[in-house]
Amino acid sequence: MMSSLLCSWGTTSFPLLAIPSSSSSSSFSSLVLYPKPKARNGSTKATRPFCSARRNDDQNQNSTGQENNLDRRNMLIGLGGLYSAANLGSNTLESSAAPIPPPDLSTCRTNLGPPVPYSCCPPTNTTIVDFTPPTNPPMRTRPAAHLATAQYMERYNRAVQLMRNLPANDPRNFMQQSYVHCAYCNGAYFYPAAQGLNGGQIQVHGNWLFFPFHRWYLYFHERILGSLINDPTFALPYWNWDSPDGMNTPTMYNNSRTYPALFNERRNQTIYTRPVNLATGTNSNLTPQQIANNNCAVMYNEMISTATTLESFMGRPYRRGNAVPNGAGTSERGSHNAVHNWCGDPRERAGEDMGNFYSAGRDPIFYCHHSNVDRMWTLWRERRATNQRDFTDTDYLNSQFLFYDENRRLVRVRVADCLDTTRLGYQFQTQGVTVPWTTCRPAARVRGTRAARTSTLDAPKLETLEFPLKLDKIVKVLVHRPRQSRTLEEKEKEEEDDFENFDKAEYLGTFSHVPHKHDTPKKIKAGERLELDAQLEELDVEGDEEILITLVPLAGDITIGGIKISYASSP
Ligand code: C2O
Repeated sequence: MMSSLLCSWGTTSFPLLAIPSSSSSSSFSSLVLYPKPKARNGSTKATRPFCSARRNDDQNQNSTGQENNLDRRNMLIGLGGLYSAANLGSNTLESSAAPIPPPDLSTCRTNLGPPVPYSCCPPTNTTIVDFTPPTNPPMRTRPAAHLATAQYMERYNRAVQLMRNLPANDPRNFMQQSYVHCAYCNGAYFYPAAQGLNGGQIQVHGNWLFFPFHRWYLYFHERILGSLINDPTFALPYWNWDSPDGMNTPTMYNNSRTYPALFNERRNQTIYTRPVNLATGTNSNLTPQQIANNNCAVMYNEMISTATTLESFMGRPYRRGNAVPNGAGTSERGSHNAVHNWCGDPRERAGEDMGNFYSAGRDPIFYCHHSNVDRMWTLWRERRATNQRDFTDTDYLNSQFLFYDENRRLVRVRVADCLDTTRLGYQFQTQGVTVPWTTCRPAARVRGTRAARTSTLDAPKLETLEFPLKLDKIVKVLVHRPRQSRTLEEKEKEEEDDFENFDKAEYLGTFSHVPHKHDTPKKIKAGERLELDAQLEELDVEGDEEILITLVPLAGDITIGGIKISYASSP
């Protein structure tokens, strides 16, 4: 009933690919995670694990009745961080019941340590006003960056230039805007203990605050830009990386003559000549067409097949008094992190600007990237029944943030007030934009019993592995021992998979990370969970009792803390 597998890694990004493997005559499924180091020098970058799973039909061993007891919609694979693996598969151990309050600016930590070279704390202001939605705001339509007109780019460039020109201590100043991200992401902000609940550090990544925080952040940034050029209809562009038409780096960001305010030197110089690789955020020898195919599968995976629940897509709950969870949603840890890592400059010590959260907001392309991340949230919600679009938990709805607005007022906002973009006065351009990934459901290459044949019967059992496990080579592990031994003659040579292609049902998902810890930029604790159901179903291996995991790190140093497969109880 509850097999468990738990794995974790230490660095940045890697995809999980599900590859079925099991022997044809016994009943087990396999999940494969495999690593293939491909480090980009100096930076903590992508690694990718592939998980594959498949099972055998058949056999006598399913007598446990296991399947009947399981909630198939919520089978999860958990990957735990080096030091946090123990907490991984369990649901909430802590049980506070309060939303995350806004940061206490008076306790903002000014010295975050390397690599953050400055204080990210905002100008202090004693007056806080509560957000009220704009009345009858003119609709702001965010254009797809690759379709934007020269006139638009000119205005946008001018607005950013004016923002850069503001006094350094003006909260609307461009660098001050980047500090907002730094403060909320790199450990500067804390909330106090209260009502018997511990105080704590505020973190807006890796939990259910990810989408709301960044929506608010862009909302105020956009309004400030608009006010600087006296254009209340001004809207940020979005980097349409989920469609082949928009996968290349938008040209307006790489034209230091015409649009100097949008230009940034601290980027990976290779991003201008090829489409972004959403699977890994790293370079590869794949053709643009292959990358586009992979990207489509990655998007389908993170938006649809492994994102059937709010928690899977949005991230895990994060409440007052609780430790910050390691629980990014599929979109955050997938395409979102990949684009950060893709843009970050490997020449810089900590992947600045985009490759590190403290500095990401210094790159104007950040806001274009996050505009599309925000669009992904919008698209995902639109695919859901109206009563299943948002968490109804008041700890979520009443969580709060502080932002300076276009009038330099310090505004307190609630998550609940940002769920509807129309109410905030903006929408995304749809004309001329396609959403190709909704139909990119990958087919299984082999299904059911046949899938089982490519098994790796030599793989060691989970209990024989020692964790933490350094992933400096491909590691395979069988997670749950079959009840009966397989016939050895079924043992077949394992099929070597091509882990560069993601457009197959065996692909489970992507895990990646962007450095943000102030003290250990090169070491990141990660813990993620991923839905397995759609893949297992597609592979017709839902009944298998074992899953073979192959871990394939693509880049960076990865250490696996543990692997766990569990069944969540509710959607
Ligand atoms: Cu707050 Cu894309 O990161």
